[in-house]
Amino acid sequence: MSADRYAVLGHPIKHSKSPRIHQIFAEQTGQNLSYSAQEVLPEHFQDAVTEFFAQGGKGLNCTVPLKELAWAFASQKTPRAQLSKAVNTLKLEQDGSILGDNTDGIGLVTDLTLNHGIALADKRVLILGAGGASRGIIGPLLEQKPQSLIVANRTIDKALGLAEEFQTIAPVAGCGFAELAGQQFDLILNATSASLSSELPPLPPALLAENGVCYDLAYGNEPTPFVRWGRDQHAIKSLDGLGMLVEQAAEAFFIWRGVRPETQAVIALLNSERTGTPR
Ligand code: ATR
Repeated sequence: MSADRYAVLGHPIKHSKSPRIHQIFAEQTGQNLSYSAQEVLPEHFQDAVTEFFAQGGKGLNCTVPLKELAWAFASQKTPRAQLSKAVNTLKLEQDGSILGDNTDGIGLVTDLTLNHGIALADKRVLILGAGGASRGIIGPLLEQKPQSLIVANRTIDKALGLAEEFQTIAPVAGCGFAELAGQQFDLILNATSASLSSELPPLPPALLAENGVCYDLAYGNEPTPFVRWGRDQHAIKSLDGLGMLVEQAAEAFFIWRGVRPETQAVIALLNSERTGTPR
């Protein structure tokens, strides 16, 4: 029988680690599937996805800048995807409909809590950024019952708007970076795209509480500027998003195949292949 086809769509996509991760998962679980990476611009998203499924494709991951478009494309959505208004996983259902889910938030929470032993209950949590990456993680973070959750963004209105959207679950506050002065947080998550251009949001001093943790949703072969900032602030852990990447992939794999792959060995392997990494 020919292998079931899956792919990740995005722009840029050349350096994506997803094909490798899913190939390892498939070998590990004995699943017969192929997984490729396709460069797709937002204006070609609709056609590319329609063609992929028309030609027998079984599922897609969608990454930057396509997650909101994937949300709009999905004919059914899981509650967490519905809430986040961003979708990173599309699945062809038996009846031909397309299910949209968002596994980013659960991937982050699994990496923080299970892989790194960082409990979120009663913690003061700060999210930097109010774009698509932030949308995907707010709901699953709130489920962990932090003491408080603040979204800070360069464009203040976007932070206020995002905070407002999630008020139905738990209190979320929005603000600009300058308003963070004098506050302290136990966990600071960087969900801005600043790392991609080697930049750092302007953060006031003494923002990280003693024994605080920093986590950049972005990752790279070298520590990101935010990971380096966390180290400078004496974070007990200053992590990047490689573990989240593997965990969100595992969750997508489970949605598609009904089998849960083992992630630890894959994270260890990808970590061993880079230098000067934050662990
Ligand atoms: P993504 O889907 O990756 O979240 P996005 O929706 O374009 O991408 O959002 C990017 C986020 O990074 C936004 O919160 C953006 O701030 P603005 O809303 O003010 O544009 C933030 N961002 C990007 N570059 C930044 C920088 N150099 N400093 C601070 N914030 C930055």
